[in-house]
Amino acid sequence: MVETIQPARALQGSIRLPGDKSISHRYGMLASLAEGDSKIYNYSQGADCQSTLACMRGLGVKIETNGVETIIHGVGLDGLKAPEGMLDAGNSGSTIRMLSGILAAQAFTTRITGDESLSRRPMGRIITPLAEMGARIEARDGKYPPLTIHGSPLHAIDYHLPVASAQVKSCVLFAGLFCDGVTTVHEPVITRDHSEIALRQFGAEVESVKGAISIHGRPALRARELAVPGDLSSSAFFLVAALLVPGSRIAIQGVGLNPTRSALMDFLAAGGAPLRVLNIGESCGELVGDILIEHAPWRGGILEKSATAALIDEIPVLAVLGASSRDGLIVRDAAELRIKETDRIATVAENLRRMGVSITVRDDGFEVPGNQKFHAADLDSFTDHRIAMAFSVAALAAGGPSRIHNADAASVSFPEFYNMLRSLSE
Ligand code: S3P
Repeated sequence: MVETIQPARALQGSIRLPGDKSISHRYGMLASLAEGDSKIYNYSQGADCQSTLACMRGLGVKIETNGVETIIHGVGLDGLKAPEGMLDAGNSGSTIRMLSGILAAQAFTTRITGDESLSRRPMGRIITPLAEMGARIEARDGKYPPLTIHGSPLHAIDYHLPVASAQVKSCVLFAGLFCDGVTTVHEPVITRDHSEIALRQFGAEVESVKGAISIHGRPALRARELAVPGDLSSSAFFLVAALLVPGSRIAIQGVGLNPTRSALMDFLAAGGAPLRVLNIGESCGELVGDILIEHAPWRGGILEKSATAALIDEIPVLAVLGASSRDGLIVRDAAELRIKETDRIATVAENLRRMGVSITVRDDGFEVPGNQKFHAADLDSFTDHRIAMAFSVAALAAGGPSRIHNADAASVSFPEFYNMLRSLSE
């Protein structure tokens, strides 16, 4: 699908975003393992989170949904059934990596695969700790999907993550659910802690002390009624749009503000973004609130070390903002960008250059000088949802209509994106 994006005048209005992708995945998996029926409001309708539900259904879990509420009839810790065919995680790294922790502990063998992009993403990072726990996993070339996971009884481990990855942390913690004793994961930098919060919501005992997260095995997980907050990573596209387009003023309601994710707001505010957060409250252990933003020139900034890890999903759209900022954007320590849904350093650079914007690329980051103008262009998502949305935002600031090829990739996390963007531009 090709989407044409017209340059915008002011973006104005109030929006409520679809459910957070990271939290939805975790609720989908843990509700399946709980005893009883969980009701989840605002579960993400994005293709990735639907892939998680499809995998859980393939493992014998009954799931009903009417688009607003998702009812998951949990089967208990030992209730999953061997799937008939291969499970399909689609485009979703979170699905294959986190679910593998659960599959490794089953009394059956599972094969799990994904689309072309997922088939190129490294799985060694989960295979290593799961093998240490006693699992036997076969992968294409030893590290790529499809995976054949021969489930077996696992034992608790103490694991130091070599990369900052919430997916890998969650994989090991989910495997730890099935072990006797305590499994501990040490993180080099703090990553999103939605798994820890969700595990506690379902009744597991999880401790978190200075980057060491421990889970007590074999808990009785109990079904819950839960609400998924709006996705903060999806809000980034609208926050940046407001900062790009003069006269804009946007209210985003009910967004997740978990401190392990909200570095985005601090980074934007440090560059001069007039952001206000209102009505802060707690929902199911997660911080939630409303964000108000108005247009103002952004100064630019430097992203490096742990800040890079905390903002990894937002970097494509921040690159766009950097080009229009006063001082530009420098990103360092971001080699992980190269192994996301696309090589996001390459796909950001390609689209910026098509718009006449200059960028200097490094192995683990890039530099986008400030004060640049966007020219209308033929752009491509390269089938990456965040690239589709980041460059739709860039196109709002161009001198004429731009075309986004493979624009439907946005539906991986945010099927309503283009309609919502149009509703604010009209
Ligand atoms: C996610 C963790 C991050 C992030 C991804 C979602 C999660 O990936 O990029 O979009 O839900 O745990 P890594 O764990 O690979 O850093």
